[in-house]
Amino acid sequence: ATAQIGVTGLAVMGSNLARNFARHGHTVAVHNRTAAKTKTLVEQHGHEGTFVPAETAEEFVAALQKPRRIIIMVKAGEATDAVIDEFAPLLDEGDVIIDGGNAHFADTRRREKDLRDKGIHFVGAGISGGEEGALNGPSIMPGGSAESYKSLGPLLESIAAKAADGTPCAVHVGPDGAGHFVKMVHNGIEYADMQLIAEAYDLLRTVGGFAPERIAEIFRTWNTGRLDSYLIEITAEVLAHKDAATGRPFVDIVADEAEQKGTGRWTVQTALDLGVPVSGIAEAVFARSVSGHKELREAANGLPGPSAEAAALSPAAAEEFAARVEEALYASKVVSYAQGWNMIAKASDEYGWNIDLGAMAAIWRGGCIIRAAFLDRIRAAFAADPQLPTLLADRQFAEEVGRAQDAWREVVATAVRRGVPTPGFAAALAYYDALRAERLPAALTQGQRDFFGAHTYRRTDREGSFHTPWSGDRTEEQTA
Ligand code: 6PG
Repeated sequence: ATAQIGVTGLAVMGSNLARNFARHGHTVAVHNRTAAKTKTLVEQHGHEGTFVPAETAEEFVAALQKPRRIIIMVKAGEATDAVIDEFAPLLDEGDVIIDGGNAHFADTRRREKDLRDKGIHFVGAGISGGEEGALNGPSIMPGGSAESYKSLGPLLESIAAKAADGTPCAVHVGPDGAGHFVKMVHNGIEYADMQLIAEAYDLLRTVGGFAPERIAEIFRTWNTGRLDSYLIEITAEVLAHKDAATGRPFVDIVADEAEQKGTGRWTVQTALDLGVPVSGIAEAVFARSVSGHKELREAANGLPGPSAEAAALSPAAAEEFAARVEEALYASKVVSYAQGWNMIAKASDEYGWNIDLGAMAAIWRGGCIIRAAFLDRIRAAFAADPQLPTLLADRQFAEEVGRAQDAWREVVATAVRRGVPTPGFAAALAYYDALRAERLPAALTQGQRDFFGAHTYRRTDREGSFHTPWSGDRTEEQTA
C-alpha cells in the first residue's frame, strides 16, 4: 500500500481535493461509484502528482497505508450513509473516515458514535471555498477525536489555504459533530453577509441612483478598507458584468428568486433549539424565502408604497449616502458575526466541544467563502479576552459600531421612508439597541404572561417567583 490518503466520490469537489493532495506530494488513492470518473481524473490530471486509481472498494482500501484515511465526497444524506456502510466493514481499528460534505452535525454525531463503537474514527469535516478552494486551498473544519487529528491534521494542513501570516486554515475543531457544526454556522454567516451586501446594493441603486457599473466601483473601493473580503470582491465582479445576449447589466437579467440548499436554514433551526438569537442569519434565510414566493409577490404587486415622492439625490448627496451605507453594512456585519459566535459558544458548552473561538476566526481568514481581513480582528478580540460574551463588547468593535451608529440609523430610516426592504440592516440595529437598552419591554411581556396564564414573573427588587391574581384582588403572591 502506497497511498497516504484516499478520496471516494469524484465529482468536482472530490476530484479537486484529490488533485490538491497530489499536488502537495501525497500519494492519493481515488475511487468513484462509476469507474469512468476515476479514469478521467487520472487521464486528465495524472501528471499533477501520484494517483492510485481503484475500481472497487476493496482495491481502494488495499491501496491505503495504515491508519487508512478515506475522505468521502458524496452528496450529504443517504449517499453518505451508503458509502460508510460500504467501506466500514473493510476497515481496521484506528482507520479514519472523513466526511467532507455539508452534513448536518446531528448526522455526524450519530455516525461518529456508530463508528467509534467499531473502533473507527469518523471525522465530520467542514470544507469551505467551493470548487476553486478545494483545488487551491480550502478552509477545513475537522471534528472527531483528537487522536484522529494526529494522523490527519498534517495532511489537511498541507492542502489548506494559508492565512496572510502563513497559518494553515485548518484546525481540530472539537469532538464528534463540532466540525460540521461550525461549517453550518459559517454558511449561516455567509447567508447574512450576502443579504447585507444585497441590501447595500439595493439602497445604492434605488436611493443613491447609481448604476450597477458605478456600484461595482463603490464595492471595489470598500474592498480596500475594513470591508475587504472575498464576498465584496465578487460582488463587484458580478455587478460589473454585462449580459452578452442583451448587453444589459447581468444583475438585471437574472431572475430575482434566491435559492438555498439548506445549511442557512439548519443554522436558524439549530439556533432556535439552542435559544441563541441569530436574527441576522434568520432574516437572510427569510429574505431568500420571500424572494422565492412568486405567488405572494404577485398577489402583493401594486400595493401602495410611500406616498411622498422622493427627489433624486444630488451627486454629492449620493456620495454621502454611499458612505453611510458602508457604515450600516459594517455595523450590521459586526452584529451578525457576534450572533454567529454566540451560537458556536453555546453549542460548544452544550455538547462539551471546548471550541477555541479565536481559532475559528483564524481558519476563516483564508480559503472559505466568508474570508476577510475582518476575521483577523475577531481572532484578536478573542485573543484579548477568550471569555468575551459578545463581539460587540470588544473595545475596538464597540468603538467602530458606536461611530457607525448614526449613519446606520439614518440608512435604516431612509430605507423605511423610501420603501426599500432592509431586513438585515434593521434586524441588526434592533439587536444592537436591544442589547444596549437598560430596560426592555420584556417586563410587560412577563406581566401579560402572568395575566393570562399565571406564568409568574421575577421582580427587580427581591428574589423569588411571583404571581398577581389578576381576576381576583390583585394582591401579589410569592410562588417560589
Ligand atoms: C462553502 C459554501 C458551500 C455552498 C454554499 C451554497 O463554504 O464553500 O458555503 O458549502 O456552496 O453554502 O449554499 P446555498 O446553495 O444554500 O446558497
